[in-house]
Amino acid sequence: MRSIVSTASRSETGSALTSPSAAASELATPAAVPGGRAEGGSRAPLTKIPFNHPFATGDEFSCISAAIDNLHLSGNGPFSELCAQWLEESLGCKRALLTSSCTSALEMAMLLADIGPGDEVIMPSFTFVTTASSVALRGGVPVFVDIREDTLNLDERQVDAAITSRTRAIMPMHYAGVACAMEGISRIARRHELIVIEDAAQGISASYRGRSLGTIGDLGCISFHETKNLICGEGGALLVNRPDWVERAEVIQEKGTDRARFLRGQIDRYTWVDLGSSFLMSEISAAFLWAQIQHAEEILARRMAIWSAYHERLAALEATEALRRPTIPVDRYHNAHMYYILLEDRASRDRLIEGLANQNIHALFHYIPLHSAPAGERFGRTAGELTVTDRMSERLLRLPLWVQMSESDVNRVCCAIEQTL
Ligand SMILES: Cc1ncc(COP(=O)(O)O)c(C=O)c1O
Repeated sequence: MRSIVSTASRSETGSALTSPSAAASELATPAAVPGGRAEGGSRAPLTKIPFNHPFATGDEFSCISAAIDNLHLSGNGPFSELCAQWLEESLGCKRALLTSSCTSALEMAMLLADIGPGDEVIMPSFTFVTTASSVALRGGVPVFVDIREDTLNLDERQVDAAITSRTRAIMPMHYAGVACAMEGISRIARRHELIVIEDAAQGISASYRGRSLGTIGDLGCISFHETKNLICGEGGALLVNRPDWVERAEVIQEKGTDRARFLRGQIDRYTWVDLGSSFLMSEISAAFLWAQIQHAEEILARRMAIWSAYHERLAALEATEALRRPTIPVDRYHNAHMYYILLEDRASRDRLIEGLANQNIHALFHYIPLHSAPAGERFGRTAGELTVTDRMSERLLRLPLWVQMSESDVNRVCCAIEQTL
């Protein structure tokens, strides 16, 4: 396993895969004391712990080289097909289409759902910009609803009150790879005949009551951006869960043409039949992604070990109410996409960002709520008070979490948190 960016020697990283308990038990080793004295008594310089560090498995070059040998570098070639099949089989969806990003998948979803001017789509304000911009691009109106205190996901108890005669869809976003309360959301959608589009950008390998995220709604959108669990630089997938939408999804992905049917030999030439754009992932990216998919289990196990090490180590601080750790409801498997903590207020969160930065550790807040962003005010509307959204956005801090982080890195972050708090 290799890191993509060759940073200054990280001899303390890249340890063999460890179980969560082994990871936690290693935390107490003396070598892990931050800023510990180097031999001879001088203070050792603190290496930087970045927030994210993209990870390569080592198989990427050979897969890309095979893609070059295939003489098929554009989209929907052999590597795209392999990745799509893996997504369909391992997640359980009718059809997976690889896209140039999750944003592209969200934009395809809006075309498929026929979202048009004035149509309202219910979503959290506590989400990434393209959850909402994909709706606004079609002339639709993102309707921002508050989030739950526990998972920080769309509060399904407030969705009913946001529905109007213009409502067409609900967009749950699974924050940090922890599922939304999909049963409640699906029930409301059925009652009002609304489409459900899951923003599962962060959700690969996570599940809700045994069902993979992205396969529960009508459509699901996944990201393979370099910050996600499985990566290819920029990339994504649209999961089409309604069999009757598969053919139109293929058309939208292929610039509005029926090229997919032509390639299957179902028609003798292809032509422009509908709206669409160039949404495909290139074979070079698909080859990179295929290499990652081969190591999906190891990547997940390693991320879990780091997540669990944070979680065990920070339990004592939660007990003193200095911070709150993530909540994972019992009916969901998360994917260790992110480890965040909630501080008492914005001042203590910002103090901690600075305290960590002083020890060369990069931690980040999340999100600036969309309802208070200039474009959110212009294109969207709020339904009800968004008090939990505003409060959580001020209190939240994401800690570094990447595959090659070592146990001593985790220990250094936790020691720095203890010292600052
Ligand atoms: C919740 C959410 N939605 C959408 C996206 C967009 O993903 P991409 O960068 O692949 O377009 C992201 C990426 O960070 C995300 O976290």
